[in-house]
Amino acid sequence: MKVDVILGLQWGDEGKGKIVDVLSPDYDVIARFQGGPNAGHTIEFDGKKFVLHTIPSGIFNPEKINIIGNGVIIDPFVFLKEITSLKTKNVHPEKNLLISKKAHLILPTHRLLDAVFEADKGKLKIGSTLKGIGPTYTDKVARLGVRVGDICSPDFRQKYEDLKQKHFKTIQSITLDFAQFKIEGMDFGDYEDKWFDALEALKNFKQIDSEIFINKCLDENKSVLAEGAQGSLLDIDFGSYPFVTSSSTICAGVCTGLGIAPSKVGKVFGVFKAYCTRVGSGPFPTELDDEEGNKMREIGREFGSTTGRPRRCGWLDLVALKYAVMLNGVTELVMMKADVLNTFENLKVSTNYLFNDKIIDYIPFEDHHLQPVYKTVKGWNTEVNNVVKTDSFPQELNDYLHLIENETGIKITVVSLGPDRTQTIFR
Ligand code: GDP
Ligand code: IMO
Ligand code: MG
Repeated sequence: MKVDVILGLQWGDEGKGKIVDVLSPDYDVIARFQGGPNAGHTIEFDGKKFVLHTIPSGIFNPEKINIIGNGVIIDPFVFLKEITSLKTKNVHPEKNLLISKKAHLILPTHRLLDAVFEADKGKLKIGSTLKGIGPTYTDKVARLGVRVGDICSPDFRQKYEDLKQKHFKTIQSITLDFAQFKIEGMDFGDYEDKWFDALEALKNFKQIDSEIFINKCLDENKSVLAEGAQGSLLDIDFGSYPFVTSSSTICAGVCTGLGIAPSKVGKVFGVFKAYCTRVGSGPFPTELDDEEGNKMREIGREFGSTTGRPRRCGWLDLVALKYAVMLNGVTELVMMKADVLNTFENLKVSTNYLFNDKIIDYIPFEDHHLQPVYKTVKGWNTEVNNVVKTDSFPQELNDYLHLIENETGIKITVVSLGPDRTQTIFR
């Protein structure tokens, strides 16, 4: 068997969590391959809403194995909060959640560093979620990190203290007043105590050599679904650098984040919204800083699942979508939130950019100076939220889907018409 992949094609928050949840009954194993608690994946069913940050979105199927892969970084504090919240809703992840021993830990000082670095950037701030993502991946690459498999070793506390002291030296080179930076509203010492309590809770979960486990599953003909976080335009290499996250969010990240050979990658589901959103700083060529953008935000409830920040909104960017399709080798497209556009008389999609007085059809290195060139199409102007069959799609919605399929050369096999599991149409 091969590993199928679900990942985001825009700037995150495309609706990956919903689609992983919808497709997970078809798989034996669901595995997150990168990112950390900067992610917020929303799942809604039976009138209940869940937001997951570290735990894979297949967790609501108790008979499926869920894995936090080696490419993910884990904050025990956030993890425990997530577990506790799931338990209050009668979901018990210790039964079907496994954690890679090679996943790195987000230490309290990683979060402190994130806050101090971001404040120090002033106007150039990235708009990070401040979950410690950048500093933790930095330590991983610098070969300084602490991993889940280290937790039970006798010298864990020493490793922790050594790294903490290194971090404090760096922090003191930037500010002597780090006490102004609270973590989860707490002073550093209080948060650190809570973090260590949470670390004890993490020990209740089975730690595995996940790359061995997953490859064995494939050999035994078990099906595996890889769940991405963030989106291709936030990728460390191909996103709008430096306004990106610190991991490989594209399909290549599945190989390093789970230990899967490239030849073992199967279907790649590329998830995108019928329009675009972005949270945090950085280029966004089709951004709407007007009433239409506000309308998208209100109807689409475009406020961050992790931070609650308002998301920037704009028209669908086909140039960027094609770039993401190329980077990921997308085999099927999944279009989310079509219902949000129900009341828009006309819709725009950018088919090109104007750059240095020239029309171009790609994202150049100089991605800060792109003016979208739009094609305008008629909207469907009708409520589609309760449509259950593709036969009942309004003509204008079909036209919109065909336009995207023609531009990208990839079929849209799933259309989402609302946040609930049931509002998902297969084409
Ligand atoms: P993720 O990070 O990619 O999993 O996406 P988020 O959960 O951060 O953001 C997607 C938001 O859109 C969530 O609030 C979902 O409940 C919601 N959502 C998902 N699909 C649809 C849809 O088709 N229509 C509407 N209106 N909302 C949706
Ligand atoms: P999901 O998985 C949307 C953005 C942040 C910031 C930049 C860097 O829910 O789609 P970081 O915390 O990684 O240092 O932030 O990336 N960002 C996201 N935006 N969805 C996400 O995850 C994101 N994770 C990070 O807003 O601009
Ligand atoms: Mg999200």
